[in-house]
Amino acid sequence: MEEPVLDVINVCKNLGKFSLRGISFSVQEGQIVALVGPNGAGKTTTIRVIVGLLRPDRGYVKVRGIDVHSRRCEALRYLTYVPDTPIMYGELKVLTYLRLVAEVRKVPKHVAEVRIQELVERFELKNYLNRKLAELSRGTLQKVAIVSALLPDFDIIVLDEPFNNLDPVAQYELKEVLKEIRKRGKGILLSSHIMGHVEDLADKVVLMYDGRVVLTTTPEEIVRKTGSTKLEDALVRILREAS
Ligand SMILES: Nc1ncnc2c1ncn2[C@@H]1O[C@H](COP(=O)(O)OP(=O)(O)OP(=O)(O)O)[C@@H](O)[C@H]1O
Ligand SMILES: [Mg+2]
Repeated sequence: MEEPVLDVINVCKNLGKFSLRGISFSVQEGQIVALVGPNGAGKTTTIRVIVGLLRPDRGYVKVRGIDVHSRRCEALRYLTYVPDTPIMYGELKVLTYLRLVAEVRKVPKHVAEVRIQELVERFELKNYLNRKLAELSRGTLQKVAIVSALLPDFDIIVLDEPFNNLDPVAQYELKEVLKEIRKRGKGILLSSHIMGHVEDLADKVVLMYDGRVVLTTTPEEIVRKTGSTKLEDALVRILREAS
């Protein structure tokens, strides 16, 4: 039986004009969960609570049963994260940045070098290793963010709109990488507006609307329930009814 690697339990967060209102879901070992929903639904806010950047007013986030907000360092050791905002430290060169991330995440040097080489090849970053982050195109920077998140060992990877700005080859490669991670029994949480990718990847869809989870089910079930043929049509139908 798979274990939950991530538990989000009744998370509430008041941001003034917007609130998360009792978000609950889990990610099991070897499971890809997709957070979907319209702009402003609260996906990024939920993710920021999950990765410890925002403290919930109520509720809990647990990684492998360890509370992210009361036992932060311990819990976050098992988590890695691709944010939706570009990486800072523009003056650093790509290779320097990747080595720095590996060091901060305590990846042994020889392991880090092998992983960097392998991932740099996969995401076609070889020609950029000596370029400064500030000089990279948005998509290339996104590839660096993805590669850096894949350097440490982890039990759960959280990716906020990871396909944004990636070219089709890199999108394909990222999907392959995520499927491999699933096969290795890791948990994956991603937010995305690209329903084709969600349909390809997700074992479970968590649909958010206005700070709440309105539906948690499989892509197939959403499609079946709405009588649609594609997830995109099904979600458009559900969201039009909700608004
Ligand atoms: N720091 C903040 N203070 C106040 N409101 C905020 C803050 N951050 C986000 N919000 C608001 O919270 C709501 C949800 O934003 P969030 O970024 O979580 O949505 P999202 O589902 O990720 O949307 P998108 O699909 O556009 O990425 C929005 O109305 C946003 O304006
Ligand atoms: Mg967002």
